[in-house]
Amino acid sequence: MTVSITGPVLILDSVRDDTMRLAALFVAPADTAPPPVETEDGTHHPEAILSCGDRAVWRARFDRPATSPSHYAWAGTRFDLAGAAAPDPRIAYVSCNGEEHGDLDRDPVERNVIWARLGEHHREAPFALLIHGGDQVYADEATDGHPASAGWPDAWPEDPESDTLEDLRVHLRQRFFDRYHALYTAEGFRWLTARVPSVMQWDDHDICDGWGSLPRSAARSSVGRLIFDVAREMALAFQHGTRDGDLPARFADPDGSHLGWQVDLPGLRLLAPDLRSQRTRREIMGREGWDMVEDAARDGFAGRTLFISSVPLLGPRLSLLELLMVIVPKMQKYEDDLRDQWQSRAHRSSWRRMLQLCRRMAAPESAQVTVVSGEIHLATRATMGLDRGKVLHQLVASGVSHPAPPVAWARTLGTLATLGESPLRGHPIRIHPLPGQSGRYTAQRNALILDHEDGAMRARWLLEESGPTPPLVL
Ligand SMILES: [Fe+2]
Repeated sequence: MTVSITGPVLILDSVRDDTMRLAALFVAPADTAPPPVETEDGTHHPEAILSCGDRAVWRARFDRPATSPSHYAWAGTRFDLAGAAAPDPRIAYVSCNGEEHGDLDRDPVERNVIWARLGEHHREAPFALLIHGGDQVYADEATDGHPASAGWPDAWPEDPESDTLEDLRVHLRQRFFDRYHALYTAEGFRWLTARVPSVMQWDDHDICDGWGSLPRSAARSSVGRLIFDVAREMALAFQHGTRDGDLPARFADPDGSHLGWQVDLPGLRLLAPDLRSQRTRREIMGREGWDMVEDAARDGFAGRTLFISSVPLLGPRLSLLELLMVIVPKMQKYEDDLRDQWQSRAHRSSWRRMLQLCRRMAAPESAQVTVVSGEIHLATRATMGLDRGKVLHQLVASGVSHPAPPVAWARTLGTLATLGESPLRGHPIRIHPLPGQSGRYTAQRNALILDHEDGAMRARWLLEESGPTPPLVL
């Protein structure tokens, strides 16, 4: 009998002493362990880290050199790896791998076209790392089909029986598991993630649409808490290759009060705060989440900090957009997304605090900060002037498989962006077109490639219709 196995999907646990600690994930029957991972160091047997019915997520942890190319083997296939800490690493960034409705019914070739192109780029010159910047999974439909969650997030039972909640837990786990499993089986995703270690930061759809911006009564209800618990359990396994009590060293809080993490490479620090675990309508992060960023600013870093903010940190003035929502009813479906932004009036002080922290991080002579973001299903870039003539660049790449919104929406945003915004006095934010594009927002599916030339980091967007942009030197 042949057993169907999905994987390996590689996750980067941490980088330490020139070594990459990796986790290879598999989805396989719960009662049959997948074959082991083989390296020169030995044989690494997968262990089950999450079960759901008769299936499980299995994980094999192993080490590979971080500063030079290497390989591993699994089930008779050799997989080559570029070291994440090798000089001038090539990094790919993606976000929004799905859509809210009917994602699993899409034509897989059409759906995964950007994944296939990333594979072609990897064949030309290998990526050392793949950053997934949020909405790795659109779990919104997980709440369908169960009476206790069918009305979510508008209606939910006030005081459900424990049996009902237990039944709902089984339902949600199954739905989340199916969805991740389907995504991880998709050809382009599967090919690339077996060859390039991934690091992931979740956004709302990995939990449910608008999580963190929902009314307190919904988020704190027993159904709301259960949705979050299941989403978190699944994200720990599928996105981070782990479970509670076993968080890899890159996470700031081993107890997982938030899922913010940091990876230090030579001259490049990846800093990924968790903007969802502790989010409420009033606060973007809790104390622990802020502590991580405060610590990173205090510690300093010689080189570039790649600040990964699922939701764009630099954006246009939103009060006008919110007004537009009221005037143009067709635009109201985007309202939730906007209320979720750093620029929302409710988050003004948090926004200023985070921008000040980025400014502090970039203050030393040897330091630079670059922001990468997703979430908006458009590609764009922005800048904010820092002290001593430095520039904070923000690169937004969103919609690796989420369809782009109408071009008219991109134009509307572009027009509003001309008005500018200066949350820090004397440091105006400007939104710019991508290299080679005329509008400030590009309505095409896309991914971002970061590489180096003559020691300088540069960014290119991979646009579905226009192809790769000319490089932006950072
Ligand atoms: Fe998204």
